[in-house]
Amino acid sequence: MTATAQIHDPIYDIDAIRADFPILAKEVHGKPVCFLDNGASAQKPRQVIDKIRWVYENEYANVHRGAYAFSENITAAYEAARETVRAYLNARSEKEIVFTGNATAAINLVAYSYGRGVLKAGDEIVISDMEHHSNIVPWQLVRDMTGVVLKVAPISDDGELVMDAYRALLTDRTKLVAMTHVSNVLGTVTPVEQIIAAAHDVGAKVLLDGSQAVMHLPVDVQALDVDFYVFTGHKLYGPTGIGVLYGKEEILNAMPPFMGGGDMIASVAYEGSTWADLPAKFEAGTPQIVQAIGLGAAIDYVSAIGLDAIARHEADLLSYATQRLSSIEGLRLIGTAAHKTAVLSFTLGDAHPHDVATIVDREGVCVRAGHHCAEPLMDRFGVPGTTRASMGLYNTRAEIDTLAMALEKVNRIFG
Ligand code: ALA
Repeated sequence: MTATAQIHDPIYDIDAIRADFPILAKEVHGKPVCFLDNGASAQKPRQVIDKIRWVYENEYANVHRGAYAFSENITAAYEAARETVRAYLNARSEKEIVFTGNATAAINLVAYSYGRGVLKAGDEIVISDMEHHSNIVPWQLVRDMTGVVLKVAPISDDGELVMDAYRALLTDRTKLVAMTHVSNVLGTVTPVEQIIAAAHDVGAKVLLDGSQAVMHLPVDVQALDVDFYVFTGHKLYGPTGIGVLYGKEEILNAMPPFMGGGDMIASVAYEGSTWADLPAKFEAGTPQIVQAIGLGAAIDYVSAIGLDAIARHEADLLSYATQRLSSIEGLRLIGTAAHKTAVLSFTLGDAHPHDVATIVDREGVCVRAGHHCAEPLMDRFGVPGTTRASMGLYNTRAEIDTLAMALEKVNRIFG
């Protein structure tokens, strides 16, 4: 197959979008960088970088503490970022948006507070066979502390949740279903409406890990009726060090605090303390102030382009990349769900994924290799690891061609 030009979309101005990301103009080993590791972390547009720099240069202070202009202004900016996240998820109230350090911290918050604080021995938690370690290990810790039972719903060879088997795991003892919205390895978009409806039928709460979803598709937590939704900012073109926990207000209100400290209290006395209202109850200590503001700028950036336009662009990349990579000898795609995001995990002959990643790096191509923090999923497919190309809003067909040519070079090396 010969190199195919990017389809010209008059609405989706890919050149202008790429120009927003300074790092995309860099070279690696003398080759233009071809960044295809967005599932691990996405690059940042100038709008986010400039916002962070502006805050530090112009009105930086702590939040919720000072009666002076800098502190009042940055408190307003921090709370405005919360409103931006609320609107992005269509949550009912800003009280339902808790800032955390990342998605892992958000899941651990729920595991610690809801899992250890509310669940009892014999209660059941259901996860799936395509979870990231961050949606497995916290529940194992809960299991070991409380005696709850952890069950795993299977997936098909295409990487889709087996719905009948999932439904069969649900009982009146199921108290929580914790599942990914989009698999970080397979790109599978899980049928969240059906997952939630089935869980609610047995009275279970649902936590969705949206870390690989919120940059690709719209999420409406009210329409989904989901109980908890978590995501991280750095994959959504925002800074590192910022994550979000959405929780229904009545559920968060009923949960005990996670961490104790400043800002999460209403009053403190040696005899006992009382808790601040939501969301402060779950934001002990100086929060991720500038990171949250940076995340707000990233959401504004993505929203200005529009998730529908991004989804169309990425669907074109996915279909082009699937066709292009499928023509490479010895390449086995892992994850072929009917509904998936622009993520291609694969093995290539007998080449170790780390060797593949190292060789394509010499061509400027950045991909992730290994188990992708999903060891049970690797076991499910009988592979020690995969190479993964994960695309974002700024990638092009020409970059897929560069990847394909680099993989053909790997084949030549490994004969
Ligand atoms: N969870 C991230 C990934 O899938 C780091 O690469």
